[in-house]
Amino acid sequence: MKRLDELLKLYPEKRAALLPALWLAQKEFGYLSQEAMAYVAGRLGLTPAYVYGVSTFYSMYNKEPVGKYLIQVCTNLPCALMGAEHVVDYLTQKLGIKAGETTPDQKFTLLRVECLGACGVAPMMQVNDTYYENLTRERIDKILSELK
Ligand code: FES
Repeated sequence: MKRLDELLKLYPEKRAALLPALWLAQKEFGYLSQEAMAYVAGRLGLTPAYVYGVSTFYSMYNKEPVGKYLIQVCTNLPCALMGAEHVVDYLTQKLGIKAGETTPDQKFTLLRVECLGACGVAPMMQVNDTYYENLTRERIDKILSELK
């Protein structure tokens, strides 16, 4: 609440702080629950429906709880041409979950996403805030082994 108060001071209109306010809520709770979105709506003088509409437009906002490591594999055309489906298949096999699922221990969530702006180093994935590029099975093994 304190950080939201500070954030709101940076904007001439409360509604202009919507995206960073949602980001703050997600950082705090790990995802945007209905309650969190309603709270942000109330603080910014917006309707919960408006806030929900904005949050569902942007893929970086999680509307459901996710695992400790959110693995987002880009499957847009350049990554697809460079083997993104093999990356998804390999991660599915390694983690024992399909895209859109979370491991039972809540450690990994696997998602397919649209272009993450790193097409020149395809195929690629984002794990939490870090990009991993030029993926191969060996690189994926190494990356997963380093995630505690
Ligand atoms: Fe994968 Fe752009 S298509 S990062």
